[in-house]
Amino acid sequence: MSESQSLVLKLVEFGQSAVSAFLELSLSQQISVIAVAPFLYTIAWQFLYSLRSDRPPMVFYWIPWVGSAIPYGRRPYEFFAECQEKYGDIFSFVLLGKVMTVYLGVKGHEFVFNGKLADVSAEAAYTHLTTPVFGRGVVYDCPNSRLMDQKKFVKGALSKESFTRYVPLLVEEVNKYFRNSKNYDMNHKSQGTVDVMVAQPEMTIFTASRTLLGKELREKLDTGFASLYGDLDKGFTPINFVFPNIPLAVNQKRDHAQRTISNTYMSLIHKRRQNNDVQDRDLIDTLMKNSTYKDGVKMTDQEIANLLIGVLMGGQHTSAATSSWALLHLADRTDLQEELFEEQMRVLDNGNRELTYDALQEMPLLNQMLKETLRLHHPLHSLFRKVMRDMQVPNTSYVVPKGYHVLVSPGYCHLQDAYFPNAKEFNLHRWDQDAASSYNTGEKVDYGFGAISKGVSSPYLPFGGGRHRCIGEQFAFLQMGVIMSVYIRTLKWHFAPGRTVPSPDFESMVTLPQTPAEIVWEKRVPEQVV
Ligand code: HEM
Ligand SMILES: *[C@@H]1O[C@H](CO)[C@@H](O)[C@H](O)[C@H]1NC(C)=O
Ligand SMILES: *[C@@H]1O[C@H](CO)[C@@H](O)[C@H](O)[C@H]1NC(C)=O
Repeated sequence: MSESQSLVLKLVEFGQSAVSAFLELSLSQQISVIAVAPFLYTIAWQFLYSLRSDRPPMVFYWIPWVGSAIPYGRRPYEFFAECQEKYGDIFSFVLLGKVMTVYLGVKGHEFVFNGKLADVSAEAAYTHLTTPVFGRGVVYDCPNSRLMDQKKFVKGALSKESFTRYVPLLVEEVNKYFRNSKNYDMNHKSQGTVDVMVAQPEMTIFTASRTLLGKELREKLDTGFASLYGDLDKGFTPINFVFPNIPLAVNQKRDHAQRTISNTYMSLIHKRRQNNDVQDRDLIDTLMKNSTYKDGVKMTDQEIANLLIGVLMGGQHTSAATSSWALLHLADRTDLQEELFEEQMRVLDNGNRELTYDALQEMPLLNQMLKETLRLHHPLHSLFRKVMRDMQVPNTSYVVPKGYHVLVSPGYCHLQDAYFPNAKEFNLHRWDQDAASSYNTGEKVDYGFGAISKGVSSPYLPFGGGRHRCIGEQFAFLQMGVIMSVYIRTLKWHFAPGRTVPSPDFESMVTLPQTPAEIVWEKRVPEQVV
C-alpha cells in the first residue's frame, strides 16, 4: 500500500470513530460541540497560520467571519495603534469574511497607492459600494483605463478659468443660504443656533450643483427633487461592501433615485444638444464637448449622467464633513476666527474688494486652516485595493496573496506625533512655511489625467496618491475656501457653555462629527444685509 493510500485509510478511520463518538453524546452535548466547532476551527486555523513566515501576522479574533469588525469599525485608529504595538507596521485582520492586510506608515502609502495595476485593483474593492449609487459604465464599473480618461474629461471643468467663473456663483449661493435657509434665516434673525451637520451638507450640495451642474439643476434642488439625493445618499453606506443588493426598501429607493436623477441629467443633455447650446458653463458642457475615450469610443449620455453622479458624490461627503469640522474647531478657537478675519480684511481691502479666485490665493491662513482640518480629520480613514496577484512586501519575508485586500490609512499618519509634533492639537501655524493644500512636488508621473507627484511617501496625503489620486482637490479648496471666507466675514460663532468639539463617528462613509454638532452664531454687523 502506498503512503498516500494508508494516510487516506487512517483519515477515514479517524472520521468514522469521530462520528461514532459524536453520536454517543447526549443531545445537549452534541449541540455544544456544534456550537464550539467554528471557534475551535478559527483558533486552529489562526494557530497554523501563525506558523507561516511568509504571511503578515494575523490579528487574533474569536468570531469566525466577523473577525475584528467591531474594534476596527468603531475606532479604527485606536485599533491600528494597538495592532502596531503588537505586530508592527504590517499585519492582517479579518473583516466580515475578507482578509485585510494593513501597512501603516509612509512605506505603506507607497505599497498601496503605487501598487502596480496588475497587482492591486480599486474597482474590485469598491464596485459593490459605488456602482449601485453611480450607475453602470463609470468609475469602478469599467476598466481602469476608462477611469483614467473619465478623470481627464472631468478635469476640463476644474481649470483656473472655470474656477474664476465659479467664485461669484459660490459666494452668491452661500449668501442665499444665510438669508433664506431655515437654519440661518438672516432676513429675520441676527443670531441663533445651528447644527453644522445639517447646514454644511446642504451648503455643499447647493454650491457644487450651481457650479458643476449649472443653473438649471441647481434650481431643481429648490423643489422635491432634493429628496432624491437624500434617497441616493442613504444607499451609499459601508453595508454595501457586504450586501450591495439585498432587497431592502432603502436599496429600492436608492435605485429609483439613481434612475430619476440620471434621467433628469440626460434630459438636460438632450435639451442642450437640440438647442445647439453647448458652452463652457459647467461640467455638463465640458463632458458634452469632450468625452471620447482614447480608442475613439464615445461615452453614452447615460454614462455621462452616471459620471456626473459619481463626481458629485465624491465631493459631497468629503467637503461637507471638512467644512463642518472647520466650523467646529473654530468655534472652539474664537481667537483663530479673529486672525482669519484680519486676513480677510487685509486681502479684501476692508470689504472694498470682491472675493475672487486670485484673492483666495492670497489668503494663506484660510488655506492652512482647511489643510489643518484635513490633517486632523481625514474624511476617509481607510482606503482599499483588492490584491489580484501575490504581492511580495519589499524588504520583508511577507507575501500578500491574491484575494486579500490591502488597506492604507494616511489619516493614521496624520495623527502621529512623529510626523506632526503635538499631533492632536489644531494648529494652523504648523503650516506657516507650506500653505499648499497638499504635497505635490518632486518627480512627476501622468496616469492619463495630468501630472501628479510620483512619490507618495509623504505622511500628509488627504487626497491619496497614485493613479487613483483625487482630482477634486483644487475644487474642494475653492468651494470650502469661499464658504469659510463668507462665514468668517459674516459671522462669529462659539459653543454653548459646556460644549466642545465632538468626537469623530467612524462608522459612516466619511469620518463625521458626532451629532448634535451645534454652534451658536451671531452676525458680525447685526444690521448688515447679506
Ligand atoms: C475635502 C475634499 C476631498 C477629499 C479629502 C478627497 C479625498 C480623496 C481621496 C483620498 C481619494 C483617493 C481614493 C483612493 O485612493 O481609494 C480621492 C479620489 C477621487 N476624488 Fe476626491 N476628495 C475630496 C473632494 C473631491 C471632489 C470635490 C471631487 C470632485 C469634484 C472628488 C473626486 C474624486 C475622484 C474622481 C477621485 C478618483 C477616484 C479614483 O481614481 O479611483 N473628490 N479623493
Ligand atoms: C479634450 O480634453 C483634452 C484633455 O483635457 C484636450 O487635450 C483636448 O484638446 C480636448 N478636446 C476638445 C475637443 O476639446
Ligand atoms: C528596502 O531596503 C533597501 C536597503 O535598505 C532600501 O534602500 C529600500 O528603500 C527599502 N525599500 C522599501 C520599499 O522599504
